[in-house]
Amino acid sequence: MRIVLLGAPGAGKGTQCKRIVDRYHVAHLSSGDILRKERAAGTALGKKAQGYMDSGALVPDELIVAMMKEAIDEISETGFILDGFPRTVNQAKELDKALDAGGIPIEVVLNLEVNDTIIAERMSGRRSCQKCGAVYHVRNLKSQVEGVCDYDGAVLIQRPDDDLAVVKKRLKTYHEQTVPVIDYYEGHLTVNHIDANQGADAVDKIICEILDGLP
Ligand code: AP5
Repeated sequence: MRIVLLGAPGAGKGTQCKRIVDRYHVAHLSSGDILRKERAAGTALGKKAQGYMDSGALVPDELIVAMMKEAIDEISETGFILDGFPRTVNQAKELDKALDAGGIPIEVVLNLEVNDTIIAERMSGRRSCQKCGAVYHVRNLKSQVEGVCDYDGAVLIQRPDDDLAVVKKRLKTYHEQTVPVIDYYEGHLTVNHIDANQGADAVDKIICEILDGLP
């Protein structure tokens, strides 16, 4: 199963990916998580990406495409879910070129649709595990012990780019540069639009129905 998961910042991509990976045993490749790891490790890529991420802008395509191609080449599982990538039409085209050349094209596109007002509420209450990438919410999706990850016991943090001013910029960037990616995929694949304003379990149920119904 080769899946692209689209959606605005805070739409619930990371939350749903965790569940999809547990159920379908595909590799989870999140461009945001990979960039945060590069930053934490102080690599050249991480240093270049830092300013863009903190301001709510996109990291330049050439850096992201090379990073994600390398990540896809490294996975051993038969399937994958891409989270946060592609985010521009140019990234989507480059991805298609690389996957078509390897005979492993994208099979499913899922698009999480959420109102911007709900997004702002979700981002302000988000808490993330720096170790495994699990995401929680202080009201909607609490960890069992406050401030501690259920999976590995690591301390949960608030991401610096969840500041309201940066969230607004990220949403603007999404509408300008990532929404056209939906049209791009609609040109050659079925895009499954999912009402993700609902709770995480309801969204999960819809995604399962789509993925279980695949030939
Ligand atoms: P990235 O890390 O990809 O951030 P994002 O796409 O902005 O998405 P988020 O991780 O913020 O949100 P999400 O949709 O995963 O939501 P979550 O599940 O956490 O990118 C960060 C930055 O890196 C970018 O700004 C850019 O600079 C750079 N970058 C990354 N990829 C790039 C690319 N391809 N090209 C260029 N630059 C790139 O959920 C959010 C909160 O809501 C959580 O608290 C969660 O518990 C809660 N929640 C989730 N679902 C529900 C629900 N259904 N109901 C109630 N609460 C919910």
